[in-house]
Amino acid sequence: MSSSKRLVVLASGSGSNFEALVQRARQEHWPVHFTLICDRPKAKVIRRANRLGIPTVVLPTRHYADRNHYNRDLLRTLQSLEPVDLVVLAGYMKILPPSVVQAFQGRIVNIHPSLLPAYPGLDAIRRAFEAGEPWTGVTVHWVDEGVDTGPVIAQVEVPILPTDTLETLEARIHEAEHALYPSVVASLLGLKPSTDG
Ligand code: GRF
Repeated sequence: MSSSKRLVVLASGSGSNFEALVQRARQEHWPVHFTLICDRPKAKVIRRANRLGIPTVVLPTRHYADRNHYNRDLLRTLQSLEPVDLVVLAGYMKILPPSVVQAFQGRIVNIHPSLLPAYPGLDAIRRAFEAGEPWTGVTVHWVDEGVDTGPVIAQVEVPILPTDTLETLEARIHEAEHALYPSVVASLLGLKPSTDG
């Protein structure tokens, strides 16, 4: 169907954002075809994709002689899925190579658990918590060749409460992510904005 959109999700870990996206797409009948690409054969996101019936490509890093070979296959895999409307990074733990960023310029988004530019990189939730910040949040941004440096598309603030533990804060952040990311993706795909996002 020509009006159907193709969305490729790259994930390495649990996949809760991937699942939130697929569930929202199904609830709202988005005309979207999902594919998952995962770099870790044992990642929980693969089990979620199997349960949800989403086609999955696994590119295990350790099967490659070096990162260049892995990057070349990643680019080939993405190109084989063209036309791709959006590449959605959802807990993808590698930095995308310039070849992929350039080939999909303006079509790659990421979600990060902080109010960028604060706390880019790893362990963003813990670092904001340990710094005693009163607020942190979630950012969806375009992906460029840096680490969490691309232009911001949307942010939501999340308070850090005096009663929070790292675990309660993480749960609140993930809840905010699961609402924000599907709404932003729907909007970028030109789909009708949801009222419950
Ligand atoms: C999320 O916190 C996201 O912001 C970050 O990685 C985490 C992925 O979680 N980029 P999940 O795999 O979607 O559960």
